[in-house]
Amino acid sequence: MRVHVADHPLIAHKLTYLRDKRTDSPTFRRLAEELMTLLAYEATREVRVEPFEIETPVAATTGIKLSNPKPLIVPILRAGLGMLEGMVRLLPSAEVGFLGMQRDEETFQPVTYANRLPDDLSGRQVYVLDPMLATGGSMVDAINYLLERGADDITAVTLLAAPEGISHMEKSLADAGVPVTLVTGSIDQQLNELGYIVPGLGDAGDRLYGVV
Ligand code: PRP
Ligand code: URA
Repeated sequence: MRVHVADHPLIAHKLTYLRDKRTDSPTFRRLAEELMTLLAYEATREVRVEPFEIETPVAATTGIKLSNPKPLIVPILRAGLGMLEGMVRLLPSAEVGFLGMQRDEETFQPVTYANRLPDDLSGRQVYVLDPMLATGGSMVDAINYLLERGADDITAVTLLAAPEGISHMEKSLADAGVPVTLVTGSIDQQLNELGYIVPGLGDAGDRLYGVV
């Protein structure tokens, strides 16, 4: 698995405000979207393209356009929804599938409560969005669903990642048989005993949408 930390001062600046507990929900939502757009630039570095003939007002030339089938974007509900707008702004022709997952806060095991994905993902590049990679359980389950349906290139995009979650992804997806990449805004220190990322930003879903 390839891991790419998007090391850019603008990303670090926006992440600092996102982490700050004084940041209110409207500002948190705006920052999550903006961060996703910045991370999308890195995450789509290997998006599939094909040659495209055009004529400028001056001359004929060959450019490129996104290949078919178009990429699929999969936000993991709830918190991944906060990144969707920032991603489709850069990839407006992509399709969107949804996975709803909730981590059991005692066992840390993810439970899938919604699944709205195309049945056949053969030949598809897929971008999975979730702001938090903590134990990695949710992300690994999400990627396994996509692999079962035939996805042949998967990029996970997170705002923050814990070292424990990265190790879990590396071990669990070692035999995925297709390229798996993680693009993240930061690798934080560790998980605490409650499974929260330290220093992290708290509960991403609650900060985006309110406490449930
Ligand atoms: C959070 C987060 C990830 C998951 C990360 O979601 O958005 O999906 O926890 O934890 P893990 O790496 O240990 O699996 P949560 O389950 O709190 O649901 P929510 O998005 O509805 O708030
Ligand atoms: N889920 C979150 O929202 N935050 C964490 O720190 C860990 C899991």
